Amino acid sequence: MTETMAAPPFPMQRQCPFHPPQEISDLRDSAAPISRMTFPSGDEGWLLTRHTDIRSVLTDSRFTVRNRRFLFAKNQQDPPPMRRGMLLSMDAPEHPAYRKLLTREFTVRRMQHLRPRIQQIVDEHLDAMAAKGGVVDLVEELALPVPSLVICELLGVPYADRDHFQSVTVDLLRLDTPPERRLAAVEEFNQYLAVLVRTKRLDPGEDLLSDLIARADAGEELIDDEVLVSFAFLLLVAGHETTANMIGLSTAVLLENPDQLDLLKNKPELADKAVEELLRYLTIIHLGLQRSALEDVEIGGHLIKAGEIVALHVSGANFDPALLEDAERLDITRQPVAHLTFGFGPHQCLGQQLARMELRVVFSTLFERFPTLELAAPLAEIPFRSDMAIYGVHKLPVRW
Ligand code: HEM
Repeated sequence: MTETMAAPPFPMQRQCPFHPPQEISDLRDSAAPISRMTFPSGDEGWLLTRHTDIRSVLTDSRFTVRNRRFLFAKNQQDPPPMRRGMLLSMDAPEHPAYRKLLTREFTVRRMQHLRPRIQQIVDEHLDAMAAKGGVVDLVEELALPVPSLVICELLGVPYADRDHFQSVTVDLLRLDTPPERRLAAVEEFNQYLAVLVRTKRLDPGEDLLSDLIARADAGEELIDDEVLVSFAFLLLVAGHETTANMIGLSTAVLLENPDQLDLLKNKPELADKAVEELLRYLTIIHLGLQRSALEDVEIGGHLIKAGEIVALHVSGANFDPALLEDAERLDITRQPVAHLTFGFGPHQCLGQQLARMELRVVFSTLFERFPTLELAAPLAEIPFRSDMAIYGVHKLPVRW
């Protein structure tokens, strides 16, 4: 079936800051779980909202990640040529070959090794927050610095350079960044990382980037400076802003749901389930993921033509009644479901175990240390990040 009606604009407004827009649930649960949309980039394409359809696209090799026009941002221009090693824009057969180079570094042992250090970083930041007192911004004091410091130490990037990579990340994630600014930010950051790789080669440390440089210099196939810079870029950007927003937004939603927060405080053993439920419920990749069809593909009676773009509304999928009952209720005792917050298939998030570990440590410690923590502003005054590709809170004023 081909569609002829004008495609409505995407995204829709949220009615509740913690739930996907009602229109998304209506589309998913009505006769239009696969529908035409006009995206902020000006592109027309398809919006998929059902868990089963999205999972099938994410594992279907007839869809590519190579179309790099960013559907959800205004002010588009064609992106520069893709750099080798930018996993998010590579398809098979190159993608698995390059991804394997990195997965080798993300061992369970290395992640376990990080746990005490993550605890120490969280404790130090909570000490500093306690010393400050009064009303503090939890994003500035905890949510942003913890994952930034963790990824810097893991990679071997100087934390003193955080202002630089954090401002590049903001430029990349803000939906209305002018195109020339977006391109300049990428270029500047690539140059910074290229210098870092050269410096590390002369003075290696005990970190992931130094290990990769050593492997490249030992002649391992595929790794060279271009790939090293891409990996560092990807890990640094993906590794801090995502987890940071999960920390900020989860704290806000827990403070607004005191019954769930009490459960967590009284039963710390619920921390793992709580993290999984918060990942599902908040789905910070709020606008979804993007793919395009390499050939004509039929899904649910709709013909997606070769070259057409599909947006996969992960948040719609995570609230799909076919996946779970009573999806609109935050329930940290829920048996974890197969949510799609970390994606699915070949590009599934490489840092998910690290993210989970950071979130567990933060939530087990924050509410134990500050049992009377509360929002210091009405919810209506909290600046939610509807203007960014990753949802969350810009600031979270709290007191205790
Ligand atoms: C990929 C989400 C944390 C590194 C992805 C994808 C999602 C995602 C949805 C798949 C994108 C797609 O299929 O188009 C998240 C969320 C996080 C998080 C919600 C935190 C709560 C992290 C961290 C790291 C990381 C901490 C690094 C240490 C990556 C990398 C990829 C990726 C390298 C690309 C994998 C590939 O293309 O093969 N992430 N992520 N992420 N993530 Fe994460």
